[in-house]
Amino acid sequence: MATVLTFGTFDVLHIGHLRILERAAALGERLVVGVSSDALNISKKGRAPVFSQAERLQLVAALRCVDEVFLEESLELKRHYLSAHGADVLAMGDDWKGRFDEFSDICRVVYFERTPAVSTTAIIEKIRL
Ligand code: CTP
Repeated sequence: MATVLTFGTFDVLHIGHLRILERAAALGERLVVGVSSDALNISKKGRAPVFSQAERLQLVAALRCVDEVFLEESLELKRHYLSAHGADVLAMGDDWKGRFDEFSDICRVVYFERTPAVSTTAIIEKIRL
């Protein structure tokens, strides 16, 4: 039974998020999603997500293709999260292409093409305007 793991913020859930999760799920039998914490987003992007980590965890967990969620609290712990959840595959969007190749010693690393023309940042901007 292959376990697939992916990471992301999944704020203001949109079609690009659903599509990557469905494609990731199709690579195995169990999809585990690391949802990044509010603190991690504040330190990484300089702003808090629109939806809290508790809400984002609940929304992602409710998707049919997702089997399990956990809170990603540090960018430095990827290797630990991969082994702790028994990941056979790490799936990421190609905005991260090459950045996770270092983990190919413990799992298969797959990059998916991003869904064009949609992002959380663009949606927030559109609503602002
Ligand atoms: N993703 C995707 N297609 C999109 C947007 C995101 O495949 N159009 C993927 C990313 O590559 C990542 C996952 O969804 O693997 C979570 O991305 P996240 O950063 O949460 O979403 P973004 O919309 O990219 O958010 P932001 O605009 O804040 O960077």
